[in-house]
Amino acid sequence: MTHAQAKARHAQLADEIRQHDHSYYVEARPVISDFEYDKLNRELIDLEREFPDLVTPDSPSQRVGGKPLSEFKSSQHLAPMMSLDNTYSQEEVRAFVERVQKILPNETLEWVVEPKVDGVAINLRYENGVFTVGATRGDGTHGDDITVNLKTIRGIPLKLKAAQGLPAVMEVRGEVYFTKAEFDRINAERASAGEELFANPRNTAAGTLKQLDSGLVAKRKLQIVLYGTGKIEGEAAAPKTQIELLAWLKQLGFPTPERTWFCRSADELLTAIDELDAVRDKFAYETDGAVIKLNSIPLREKAGVTAKAPRWGMAYKYAPDQAETKLNAITIQVGRTGKLTPVAELEPVFLAGTTVKRATLHNEDQIKRLDVHVGDTVVIQKAGEIIPEVVRVVAEKRTGAEKLFHFPKECPECGSSVSKGAVADEEGADWRCVNPDCPAQVRGRIEHWCARGAMDIEGGGEVLAAQLVKSGLVRDVAELYRLKLDELANLERMGEKSAQNFLDGIEASKQRDMWRVLFGLGIFHVGAGVAKSLGRAFADLEDIFAAGPAKLAEVDDIGGVIAQSLTQWHDDSRNRDLLARLKKAGVNFKSALHNPAAALGPFAGMTFVLTGTLPTMSREEASAKIEALGGKVSSSVSKKTDYVLAGEEAGSKLEKAQKLGVKIIDEAEFVKMCG
Ligand code: IVH
Repeated sequence: MTHAQAKARHAQLADEIRQHDHSYYVEARPVISDFEYDKLNRELIDLEREFPDLVTPDSPSQRVGGKPLSEFKSSQHLAPMMSLDNTYSQEEVRAFVERVQKILPNETLEWVVEPKVDGVAINLRYENGVFTVGATRGDGTHGDDITVNLKTIRGIPLKLKAAQGLPAVMEVRGEVYFTKAEFDRINAERASAGEELFANPRNTAAGTLKQLDSGLVAKRKLQIVLYGTGKIEGEAAAPKTQIELLAWLKQLGFPTPERTWFCRSADELLTAIDELDAVRDKFAYETDGAVIKLNSIPLREKAGVTAKAPRWGMAYKYAPDQAETKLNAITIQVGRTGKLTPVAELEPVFLAGTTVKRATLHNEDQIKRLDVHVGDTVVIQKAGEIIPEVVRVVAEKRTGAEKLFHFPKECPECGSSVSKGAVADEEGADWRCVNPDCPAQVRGRIEHWCARGAMDIEGGGEVLAAQLVKSGLVRDVAELYRLKLDELANLERMGEKSAQNFLDGIEASKQRDMWRVLFGLGIFHVGAGVAKSLGRAFADLEDIFAAGPAKLAEVDDIGGVIAQSLTQWHDDSRNRDLLARLKKAGVNFKSALHNPAAALGPFAGMTFVLTGTLPTMSREEASAKIEALGGKVSSSVSKKTDYVLAGEEAGSKLEKAQKLGVKIIDEAEFVKMCG
């Protein structure tokens, strides 16, 4: 392909991808399948790889994320980003309307009501129609420059559509969020990886935007809605009303609120607020209120601002879904880390679509703060969180028969003493069982070790972990590797076949990559992502512990807290003994991710599949070459395969590659790519 041809094809692909992004994320009307869409992106990226000068800041290829940052730069907003005053009361809405009318006595006031999207406020700067800087609100004048993360959001146009009349510089403001569906998908993925679940879409969106690794952000489908502007500089006639502003944003290619209400009085506003309340659970995002804005933008300027917020608008917040029920008992759950969590056992009650029987009381301080007694009538709430919580006691309904709850001073599982105090960097509000052999903790650790995201041992779920611990067969994860068929088969509800399957799974787990072993150990702050970073940086598990905190903290993504947590864990002789026994059992400690030169290689992030016989190279040679240049070799072709390297007599893999539209190369081309 000549450069001119490549350039033309690139422009065409970029345009097509932009249109599909718009159909999907702005109009919510996808035109092609994900597969076809991925194919367009892949072709574009391939072209850019071959002709690097085609990469422009507004190319769709810029959405896949780049190298992790060490920190975010600070970015100054051109106009300050304020927030709105909040209220839960209809009376205050009336008072607000009267107040504004008093400031603007001779004006006929018009209002717009919009959903208050429960996301994260952001500011996008466009210069001559090109997205240049995106930031969080921060303190209102400066936020974190999260441009690379925001670029992964397909609903954000990298280049605006208008042909002319675009401001030289403009700031657009809105909210980044996860749809409820995407939030559920992420949590389901975490559940199967044995990772802790995220609490709610909002916090997850905030946490995702603060990720230093934009590649991770690109894997989660964040979305955006825009409802305002900041500074606008240049020739364009700035809109005069909120309604015009939303239409203008839409025309420029931004997603805007799907429904708005136009109102002329406090009564109409309250009706609109009720109407929004009735439909908001059908929206893709969580809506925690209604935003009321003066429609006229010149009048907003007249109304002015207070120190904290503009006078022209306010947010009405809906009360979270709550229900009243009786608290029958308080039980204590002991987690993998020994944490004691008090749980309210409730008279079943229907709340926000589900029947709730249990709610969390978080910790002892919370029980005291709420003054909860057993037998109390309590109010429980689900506010975007998945686990309902007790928010208050209905003191009027006390009969005198309620009983004070004494938080146990020993572990309800093993009777050991409990202690309070900071663990790693977690505050010291939680009681923890001090006995590392506590059956609840051992169960939790075994379950975590076997989880799909860790050592991936099928069958090692909650039930079997409990049986193994109760029967005394397994006291720590190393003892899994000593299990015998007859011991297992003797367990209740365990036939010989499932016992054998479990043993096969344990055997296979010995070959898992080092990062899974490390993650499986369940060390504080060492999640799968951290374990992978360490796997890339170190060749052997034991090298990590030998490195010492200073060396560890030099690794990408590893801060002082993680380094300290690793060191503390290893300082415990029992843990060192556990490692030794795992090693002796044949568990792999070597990291396949470790390849210092590869991270920078031209094949970094690419997956190859080999098939057939190559004219001069052996498979081993080709694989080694790929890995040395940073690529991965996989045994089967999938959508995620970047290249299939095919030789003579290539079979079904070649067919599959053709079917999936995966790029197929021969040895000559491969040698060229290797440079
Ligand atoms: S307008 C001067 N409109 O809720 C601030 N805000 O306090 C003007 N929010 O900080 C904000 N949906 O983060 C506006 N349709 C909407 C919104 C919205 C969500 C957030 C925003 C703002 C807070 C209101």
